[in-house]
Amino acid sequence: MRHFLTPSDFSKEEWRNLLDLAERIKNDPKRYAHVADGKKIATLFYEPSTRTRLSFETAMINLGGSVIGFHSADSSSVSKGESVADTIRIIGCFADICAMRHPKEGAPMVAASVSPIPVINAGDGGHQHPSQTLTDLFTIRSLKGRLEDLTIGICGDLKYGRTVHSLIRALSEYSGIRFVLISPQALRIPSYVREETLEKNSIPYQEVEKLEDVIGDLDILYMTRIQKERFFNEEEYNRLKDSYVLDMHKMDMAKKDMLVLHPLPRVNEIAPEVDNDPRAVYFKQVQYGVYARMALIMTLLNLEEPSC
Ligand code: NCD
Repeated sequence: MRHFLTPSDFSKEEWRNLLDLAERIKNDPKRYAHVADGKKIATLFYEPSTRTRLSFETAMINLGGSVIGFHSADSSSVSKGESVADTIRIIGCFADICAMRHPKEGAPMVAASVSPIPVINAGDGGHQHPSQTLTDLFTIRSLKGRLEDLTIGICGDLKYGRTVHSLIRALSEYSGIRFVLISPQALRIPSYVREETLEKNSIPYQEVEKLEDVIGDLDILYMTRIQKERFFNEEEYNRLKDSYVLDMHKMDMAKKDMLVLHPLPRVNEIAPEVDNDPRAVYFKQVQYGVYARMALIMTLLNLEEPSC
């Protein structure tokens, strides 16, 4: 049985297969409308979410399956003190696959260690968020035509942003990738990402504080929200919350074919005026996320590709 807890759970070839399947689904979604008939996904969200939960649920419904689950810890037995390990054993009697989001880093890994069904990490604390990365890679590959030879700027909260950690891990597998990491000093990438991914694989990267200084070099700009809920002190959050605002003045300094991605939700880091620029693809990215998750569910459940 396979789980999807970090990007490293799939080999580079398996990533390519997933992205190819997402592509086939995007080109003809109706063909996949019954591949998961009779299957259920459980979405176990111990932390708020709009996109990720609804994206998994839409993906399963699009495949012909159905959905059970909860969307806050308060509405589940966790409020009575049940452990994640017990919850997943129970859910395994009801559903065929589960997507779990939890504020504690590692909680989906604990669940997977006892789970009778595949577990997808839908975000664990400030650690990893691999299905967002699948969405991000699918968006980049679809709109740029490649995952190699790209200068990727990642801007905002690189310390607590779990999407960032998974994205760096996954993109580091491709040749010619160079990262420009743009953040305040206090929100630089964690040392484990630097040591275990960037330095270990000799991936070129630079760390800067000002977006204006580097925006002209980028092929992709991945904006992120300052992760308010992970700060220990509100003063520090208030000091850093408006560190970056991408507006049309900055977009004018960027390449004509740079793409702007954002996992969303956005707070103030992208001015609404940017939404109408054709380089802003963060809403398209949400649609790509559904195809990506359909491919992921099919792969983890070993569902057969329908015949033409
Ligand atoms: C992200 C997350 O939950 O980490 N959102 C998402 O899944 N689309 C990003 C964020 O909350 O800032």
